[in-house]
Amino acid sequence: MSKDLTDLQLLTELEPAVEPLVNRHMRMTKDWNPHDYIPWSDGKNYYALGGQDWDPDQAQLSEVARVAMMVNLLTEDNLPAYHREIAMNFTMDGPWGFWVNRWTAEENRHGIALRDYLVVTRNVDPVELEMLRIEQMTRGFSPGQNQQVEADLFAASLFDSVIYVTFQELATRVSHRNTGRACEEPIADQLLQRVSADENLHMIFYRDVSEAGFEIAPDQAMKSLHKVLRNFRMPGFTIPDFRRRAVSIASGGIYDPRIHLDDIVMPVLKKWRIFEREDFSGESAALRDDLGLLVEELQETVDKFEVAKQRRLERQAKVAEKKAARNQLVGSSTGS
Ligand SMILES: [Fe+2]
Ligand SMILES: [Fe+2]
Repeated sequence: MSKDLTDLQLLTELEPAVEPLVNRHMRMTKDWNPHDYIPWSDGKNYYALGGQDWDPDQAQLSEVARVAMMVNLLTEDNLPAYHREIAMNFTMDGPWGFWVNRWTAEENRHGIALRDYLVVTRNVDPVELEMLRIEQMTRGFSPGQNQQVEADLFAASLFDSVIYVTFQELATRVSHRNTGRACEEPIADQLLQRVSADENLHMIFYRDVSEAGFEIAPDQAMKSLHKVLRNFRMPGFTIPDFRRRAVSIASGGIYDPRIHLDDIVMPVLKKWRIFEREDFSGESAALRDDLGLLVEELQETVDKFEVAKQRRLERQAKVAEKKAARNQLVGSSTGS
């Protein structure tokens, strides 16, 4: 079997494909200003400046929308860690370097806009938010290199990075979009649509760079793809209490197993023609087959999740019915 290409060789080989993708991004991207999406007149000073500190009663958005928006913001806040990962695996020369900086600048806009919105509208406890931000950023985001979880996870090579980020950008695109809908508030919805449109452009950049990678070194790309999908974790996984928050995000329909499989994993695998390609050999061919198994396993998780969700909804409907009946009874016995 041929020897794997080094990252340096891959960066050189991929550069002719990367340059037009960067140019395409610059034609398609739209500059926008976070301040245009913030209802400043709804804001007031906090206690330190003679105003009032945050109180839970001030929050207007639903619990699910607030949890999702806070997780999305904290995820964006960890940008220095993602920049570090990307910058370490890319080069800072030519179109690669331009992309790293441009992408970082666009991502930074997301954190600015979401923070301004949440703090001005008082939909989040700003003290808790700041505490979580510091905690998360101190933990960092570099699963493999910092040995935070199992050793040698993703992002240890160029392919690990571009393939992981493809799925991550698509996951954040969908998550921002669905959070916007869950807010049921037109300004938040517009803001999150805007952010989501950026994430889509980021996703197609990384997706198409990865696709070029599959052409140059299919076996090597397959190894990274397998590692990324078998160990996939959302970028926000280092946020304290992430698991509990992810459960409410899933039960609120913002990001759940069905969305993960149907809207994130499958569209990318189809675009890369993973199950049709005939250029995988040896270990990589076996890894492709294992991805087929992974898709089946994810489908089982979806089915279980949907059954549990249906049961929960039925239980909630019954409780609501009983409550309504009881209220009616109390109303008629008091003669009102
Ligand atoms: Fe973002
Ligand atoms: Fe992005």
